Amino acid sequence: MQQVGMIINETLRLYPPAVFIMRQTYKKVMVGSLKVPAKTQLFLALTAIHHDKEIWGEDCNEFNPDRFSEPRKHIAAFFPFGLGPRTCVGQNLAMIEAKIFLAMIIRDCSFSISPTYCHSPIMFLTLQPQHAAQILFRRISC
Ligand code: HEM
Repeated sequence: MQQVGMIINETLRLYPPAVFIMRQTYKKVMVGSLKVPAKTQLFLALTAIHHDKEIWGEDCNEFNPDRFSEPRKHIAAFFPFGLGPRTCVGQNLAMIEAKIFLAMIIRDCSFSISPTYCHSPIMFLTLQPQHAAQILFRRISC
C-alpha cells in the first residue's frame, strides 16, 4: 500500500488534476522579500512547482515513484490537493479510493499502455488525457 501511495503521488506530481490555484490578498502582505499589495490575484502554478528542477532534480520530468520514499524537503514542493486552510476536503477519500482501486487491479491483472495511446495532456477544467487513455489489461493466472 505504501508503494501504491508513492505511485499515485508521483502521478499527481507530474499530472496534477488541478493545474493551478488562485488566491487574492485582502491586505498588503510580504511574500519573502516581495511586497504584494492588497487585492492582488496570485496564480499558483502547481505544474511549474511540481516540475521544478531545483526542487525535484534533473530527472523532474521522469516518472519515479521512489522520490516519495524520502520525506519532502519543503511542504509546498508538492500540493496537488492545495495547501493551508482551504486544502481539499476530499483528499483522504480520493487517495484511499485510488489506492484501493489500483491495488484491486494489480492483484488480478497486469497492464500496459496501448499502442493507440497518444500522450497529449490537455487542460479542460482539470488536466486530462485529450484522446482518453487506452490501457491493455491482462489477467494474471494463478
Ligand atoms: C484526485 C482528486 C482530487 C484533487 C486533485 C483535488 C484537488 C483540490 C484542490 C487543489 C483544492 C484546493 C482549491 C483551492 O485551494 O483553490 C480542492 C478543494 C476542494 N476539494 Fe478537492 N480534489 C480532489 C478530490 C476531491 C473529492 C473526492 C472531494 C469531495 C468528496 C473534493 C472536495 C473538495 C472541496 C469541497 C474543496 C474546497 C475546500 C475549501 O475551499 O475549503 N475534492 N481540491
